[in-house]
Amino acid sequence: MLSSVQIQPFFDEATNTVTYLVSDPATRQAAVVDPVLDYEHGSGKASTGSADRVLAAAREAGITVVLVLETHAHADHLSAAPYLKQRTGAQIAIGEHIRDVQTIFCPVFNLDDVSGNGSEFDRLLRDGESFPLGALTVEVLHTPGHTPACVCYRIGDAVFVGDTLFMPDYGCARADFPGGSARQLYRSIQRLLALPPQTRLFMCHDYKTPGRDTYAWETTVEQQRMHNIHVHEGVTESEFIAMRERRDATLAAPTLLLPSIQVNIRAGHLPEAESNGVRYLKIPLRLADPAQAGEVQSA
Ligand SMILES: [Fe+2]
Repeated sequence: MLSSVQIQPFFDEATNTVTYLVSDPATRQAAVVDPVLDYEHGSGKASTGSADRVLAAAREAGITVVLVLETHAHADHLSAAPYLKQRTGAQIAIGEHIRDVQTIFCPVFNLDDVSGNGSEFDRLLRDGESFPLGALTVEVLHTPGHTPACVCYRIGDAVFVGDTLFMPDYGCARADFPGGSARQLYRSIQRLLALPPQTRLFMCHDYKTPGRDTYAWETTVEQQRMHNIHVHEGVTESEFIAMRERRDATLAAPTLLLPSIQVNIRAGHLPEAESNGVRYLKIPLRLADPAQAGEVQSA
């Protein structure tokens, strides 16, 4: 049965991210999936233009935002979830394995103000769990691989796949972040590809591809099964793992990896201001030569 879920995409060209306003026309209740906080790494300037566009669209349509659904702790943009919560009262939800991601990254950033138990989020979601969005039902699919905490949200005939899949001509996300696994990613993707063929799949990112001039973010299970360059029907688990690991070894760290992770494992909350009223992000230095470290310390 097709649902009447209404979906409005917002593409952020700076981070290639798609935020979705997902609403139930019967009750006009809505969720925002993967909201973006605008952030300029060079200047440290953060602003809410992208989130404000989503809020303005909701307001114009008479829609009430009650939930922010994160598909995972993103490594390429900062989340605007706290801003949306502040403006609407919406609850912020993410997969329960965010605890694992916090456990991995707290030592990396030496963060002592992150719980490790996910309490920065309002709701931690389990695999297979369902909950209402107005008269619609949201089903949670735990799809680890890109990160341990990745989830997809199935609402009516639509699934918001996060970074599990990209458009068929681009393939799928990397699996080499800490806690990532190409084997798990393959199995998670198979779970999505086992859904009914006409199920609509909504990507979290698009980067175009050579030969495609426009951004795209919607496809179907059938299209992915037939055409996904990394994981179409017939690609075996071992072939996929070999491809993914070979390819991941060539990929550079995303530009906003370090700022994004330390903010997003706090549910998008920015670090507390220091005594001068300024908030600071941390960059762990990785000195290639241990002697340099001593030199820096003694300088
Ligand atoms: Fe991601």
